[in-house]
Amino acid sequence: MFERIDYYAGDPILGLMEKYSADNNPNKVNLGIGIYYDESGVLPVLDCVKTAEARIADPIAPRPYLPMAGLPGHRKGCQELLFGKGAQILKDGLVATTATIGGSGALKVGAEFIHQWFPQSKCYVSDPTWGNHIAIFEGSDVEVGKYPYYDKANSSIKFDEMIAFFETLNKHDVILLHPCCHNPTGMDLTQAQWDTVLNVIKAHELIPFMDIAYQGFGEDMDSDAYAIRKAVEMGLPLFVSNSFSKNLSLYGERVGGLSVVCPTADEAERVFGQLNAMVRRIYSSPPSHGGHVVDIVMNDDALHEQWVGEVYAMRDRIKAMRLKLKSVLEAKIPNRNFDYITRQNGMFSFTGLTPEQVERLQSEFGIYMVSNSRMCVAGLNTSNIDSVANAMADVLKD
Ligand code: LMR
Repeated sequence: MFERIDYYAGDPILGLMEKYSADNNPNKVNLGIGIYYDESGVLPVLDCVKTAEARIADPIAPRPYLPMAGLPGHRKGCQELLFGKGAQILKDGLVATTATIGGSGALKVGAEFIHQWFPQSKCYVSDPTWGNHIAIFEGSDVEVGKYPYYDKANSSIKFDEMIAFFETLNKHDVILLHPCCHNPTGMDLTQAQWDTVLNVIKAHELIPFMDIAYQGFGEDMDSDAYAIRKAVEMGLPLFVSNSFSKNLSLYGERVGGLSVVCPTADEAERVFGQLNAMVRRIYSSPPSHGGHVVDIVMNDDALHEQWVGEVYAMRDRIKAMRLKLKSVLEAKIPNRNFDYITRQNGMFSFTGLTPEQVERLQSEFGIYMVSNSRMCVAGLNTSNIDSVANAMADVLKD
């Protein structure tokens, strides 16, 4: 009966994590999946989260189903983080937000919504993008295309090509954008470039879908949301998927949100209803534990401030690792340019290594990065950075 079922080749990122876990090499280094490890190589539990967890645990409360859209405080937390506390669109009721099962859940609910209500629309993703973007939209029967983004030869963005491409798209085509910390390249648009992109989107009546999974890891909480807030200022309809996996270090709790900015409060109410309908038929309602943590941390001023500080400490450690890696590599291979390492933002560096070089790092040195050459810089620390740099220099020289 199941003989005709295709084998699943596995996910390039999650599969790598499994391979890494099974590796017995005591010197192995995990630079694959986008997870922040601290200076000791440990996945941190943020102090603000510990406080929130203590409040949740005392007294231990019953666990009813949450509403389809999740806890009101979770949704408010998403909205204020993305659009700014006191934003006029929030006061005017123009944003439909549902809490979701991580950023992936937000993308899935959004993709289903697009499929149902904009069946003619295609979705365009950056070339390259996070592999699951393509899988999620195609899995919802939305046709996916790629727009020019990364210039491998020059480690830069193909900005003019990208704009020219957007100008060829049809009304209501969806453009999936990364407001900060582009995954996998780490190369972000400048604010002036965002302005140009959004003007083209407006002129051609395209639908921007912004996926923000690393807010706070680029410049700061507000600057990282520049594209989102500029789109709002320009009066654009907008989808935003956000994730708390990285910036609350709550990967396994699967907490995120999907927000849709609408022109009127009536439209926002209709969209909100349909988002609920999508959620009901995919997973009914989100889990409560992570939602309560988000609610507590985002809505308690002191905890929120502490949280922002903790995110910035993670951001700064990654930046320090970028500087160190660049200087070690420059010393080892003086005729090669490694400026790209510090021009990139967020957790990832697109190293430009060939798949063969990535494979050698894994088999000879126990260093794991994604085969497209993406390195998670947040896996580096002062104990492993020299051996990683040495190994990279070795495979780059040969
Ligand atoms: C990544 O890009 O490594 C993360 O977003 C984790 C994932 O689910 O792929």
